[in-house]
Amino acid sequence: MQTIIEPFRIKSVEPIRMTTHQERKTILKAAHYNLFALSAEDVLIDLLTDSGTGAMSSEQWAAVMRGDESYAGSASWRRFEAAVKATFGFEFVIPTHQGRAAERILFSIMCEEGDVVPNNTHFDTTRANVEYQGAKAVDLVIPEGKVPEAIHPFKGNMDTHALEELIAEVGTERVPLIMITITNNSMGGQPVSMANIREVAAIAHQHGIPLYLDACRFAENAFFIKLREEGYKDLTVKEIVAEMFSYADGCTMSAKKDGLANIGGFLCTNDAALAQQEKDLLILTEGFPTYGGLAGRDLEAIAVGLEEVLHEDYLTYRLASIRYLGEHISRVGVPIVQPPGGHAIYIDAKAMLPHIPPLEFPGQALACELYLEAGIRSTEIGSVMFGRTEPDSGESRPSGYARRDVPADMELLRLAIPRRAYTQSHVDYVVEAITNVFERRQDIRGLKLTYQAPYLRHFTARFERA
Ligand SMILES: Cc1ncc(COP(=O)(O)O)c(C=O)c1O
Repeated sequence: MQTIIEPFRIKSVEPIRMTTHQERKTILKAAHYNLFALSAEDVLIDLLTDSGTGAMSSEQWAAVMRGDESYAGSASWRRFEAAVKATFGFEFVIPTHQGRAAERILFSIMCEEGDVVPNNTHFDTTRANVEYQGAKAVDLVIPEGKVPEAIHPFKGNMDTHALEELIAEVGTERVPLIMITITNNSMGGQPVSMANIREVAAIAHQHGIPLYLDACRFAENAFFIKLREEGYKDLTVKEIVAEMFSYADGCTMSAKKDGLANIGGFLCTNDAALAQQEKDLLILTEGFPTYGGLAGRDLEAIAVGLEEVLHEDYLTYRLASIRYLGEHISRVGVPIVQPPGGHAIYIDAKAMLPHIPPLEFPGQALACELYLEAGIRSTEIGSVMFGRTEPDSGESRPSGYARRDVPADMELLRLAIPRRAYTQSHVDYVVEAITNVFERRQDIRGLKLTYQAPYLRHFTARFERA
C-alpha cells in the first residue's frame, strides 16, 4: 500500500470550537496581537507548539494508573530510570519537570561568566539559560542551515570548521561544553547526521570538552538518519539512537516532545561528581532526585512514551504528516524551509511578505493573519523570538521601532504539529487557510512592539498595527 495512515484509532475525543471572523478580530486585539495570550478555547487548530500537546496512548493512560506517588524511591521512578537508561545509555539520570529545568541545572553548574557555549542553534530557553549565567551562546549551524530554500539532507549539522576556529579563538578553558540540538528546532526542525555528531564529538574530546545533546526530538532525528544516511537503513531506530548518544557525555531532554508526554524532562551524565552536584541543586528547586518535580504518574507516562516513540510505523506516519503539509503549501507557492523537518513546517515570512521590514515582524504578522483567517494558532520564530536588543550605538532608526532592536537571521512562522492529535482533514483545513492568506499577502501589514520583557520576550510581548 502507498497510503500512509495514522497508525492508531481514536478512543477519546476533545471537541474544538469554531469562532467567527469578527470574534477573532476582537480576541486578537485584546491579546495585543500575541497568540500566546489567547485562550485555548478560542483556537480551532493549535499549532503553537508540539511541546506537551500530543495525545497519549491507551498504554500510557494505563501506566498513569500505576503511578506510585511515594516521595522517595517510588517504583515509578525505577521504571522511568530504567527506560531512560535503556534508550540513552547514560549512567546518571536526573528527572526534571521539563527541559528548561534540566538546562538551568546544567548551565548553572557548568558555566561561568565569560564562558562560550557552541551549539548548532540554541533553542530560545537554552540560549536564555546560557546567557543567564553570563556566558555567551554561539550558534554554528552549517551555512546551508541558514538558507530556507537550500536543500540538504542534514541541514541541522554543526559547522565543524567554525567550531574549531571558535575553540582556537576563545581557548579551551572558556568552552565548558558543546551542545548539538537534535533536531534543530530554531532552524526548521532539521536533522543532524550521525557523521556530524561523531565529528563534533571527536573535536570536543580532543580538547577535553564534554559534548551534550539537546535530545528533545531524538527519535525524529534518528529516523531521518535511517532514511537518509548511508549505512543506517537496516538498523533499528533504537540501535541508531544508541549510537547517537554513545558519542555524547550527557543530554538534556524535554519529554514533552519525543517522550510523548504532556510534561517532564531529564538531565543525563556519565560523570558521578557532576551528577551529585546536579542532584544537590535539584533538591533545592525541583524536588527529591527520585521524582524531580514530576508526579509518579508522569514518570510512568514518559517511561512508556520513550518506548512507543521508537516504533517505525509511528515515525513513518509522523514524518509523512509533516511532509504532507509542507508539500501542499509549497505547491501553491508558499515559501517554506526546505526540506520539511521532523515536527513542523516553517513558512519563510521574509520571502512571503517582502513588503514588511524585519523590525515590523513579518512572522508575527503572518501568525495573526492565519488566526484571523481560520482560527489557527502558530508561532513566530524570527525577530520577535531572536531579535536582540543591543547597547544604543546612537545610529538613528525610524521612529516607532523598539530602539536598538537587531533583527534575527530568519523570519519564520512555525506550524508545529502536535503528536498523534490531528488527522489529515485537519491538515487539509490548514492548507486551505494558508492558501487563502497567501493569495492576499500584499494586504498584510506589519506590527509595532509596544512591550517586551528582558528575557524570552516573545511569550509576553505586546504589539499594535504598524
Ligand atoms: C530544542 C529544544 N530545547 C529545549 C526546549 C525546552 O523544553 P521545555 O519547553 O520542556 O522547557 C525545547 C522546547 O520547545 C526545545 O524545542
